[in-house]
Amino acid sequence: MPGFDLLFLPGDGIGPEVMGEVKRTIAWFNAHSSKTIDTDDDLVGGCAYDAHGEAISDAAMDKARAADAVMLGAVGGPKWDDVPYDARPEAGLLRLRKDLDLFANLRPAICYPALADASSLRREFVEGLDIMIVRELTGGVYFGEPKEITDLGNGQKRAVDTQVYDSFEIERIAEVAFDLARKRGNKVHSAEKRNVMKTGVLWHEVVTRLHDEKFGDVELEHILADNCAMQLVRNPKQFDVIVTDNLFGDILSDAAAMLTGSLGMLPSASLGAEDKTGKRPAMYEPVHGSAPDIAGQGKANPIATIASFGMALRYSFAMGAEADLLDAAIADVLDQGLRTPDIMQDGMTEIGTEAMGTAIIEALDRLSA
Ligand code: IPM
Ligand code: MG
Repeated sequence: MPGFDLLFLPGDGIGPEVMGEVKRTIAWFNAHSSKTIDTDDDLVGGCAYDAHGEAISDAAMDKARAADAVMLGAVGGPKWDDVPYDARPEAGLLRLRKDLDLFANLRPAICYPALADASSLRREFVEGLDIMIVRELTGGVYFGEPKEITDLGNGQKRAVDTQVYDSFEIERIAEVAFDLARKRGNKVHSAEKRNVMKTGVLWHEVVTRLHDEKFGDVELEHILADNCAMQLVRNPKQFDVIVTDNLFGDILSDAAAMLTGSLGMLPSASLGAEDKTGKRPAMYEPVHGSAPDIAGQGKANPIATIASFGMALRYSFAMGAEADLLDAAIADVLDQGLRTPDIMQDGMTEIGTEAMGTAIIEALDRLSA
């Protein structure tokens, strides 16, 4: 039987709880499909620091490189507030992104009809919302050097972060965005700050050239990133694909997430380039964080993580029909009125993490019967 290797890095806080529901979902697919997904587990984030003194071990990195895909839960929490900067939990996540060269971060913001009233905007603004944020993930201010704090010796310190982009980095992420747009609404907004930043000027130039050369059939609009944030809460349905840099993408995707009802709903895929054998490095993770305030209470919403596994089915395992089935199962459970506390509304039934996982598996049974 053809098989795939998936590495689990559940991480900290609610990560292990929500990942537990993904494991049960995978067991369902293994029992109902002709392809098997084999899994292995390792540590990332604060738990890796506790075990090894670093946010991810070389051994775990080797496993991540060898696997067909990685599923990550979440990292961080107050327990690790005082660990050295290079060993902080987030460093494990950033190393995975950088060392696996996962430059393309896909963050869909889809509003399930059943959740339109859980959004911070009125139903008419978000019903049917389907945005894909394409965030550059291995460059920009996250990784630019110098990145340091120096003591100026006069009682002052100076902090420097460096925002840097080479044209190839902009070109390859824009290419991903244009390709995706062709399969969706055929429209790309490219967000930068060319009015104040040189990286924005180059971003605009490279995206425009690529559009002229290869993607003239796709509608392209340039938008300043601050205006993009404003338009996202003013009239979000004008967007189809938004392509933007690492930092703006971080911020805009949180804003877009909230439009859909809860950060607990949003999956993401981080993809690299295909190698000669056709293998594409990939990591899937929820957009939400480790939520230490509710960790261990069985209250976390597992939907973002389960939907991230759905993206793995689609983008890493070529199991598009199975991915559609899983998306339908999630929508079905929401239609039944089942809600974790983060998306709870009047008249609905509040359930916990495990019950939500069970409901999704039961919906898979029913929809596939
Ligand atoms: C995200 C997160 C990360 C980021 C943190 C945890 C380092 O906010 O994936 O959006 O800033 O990229
Ligand atoms: Mg973020």
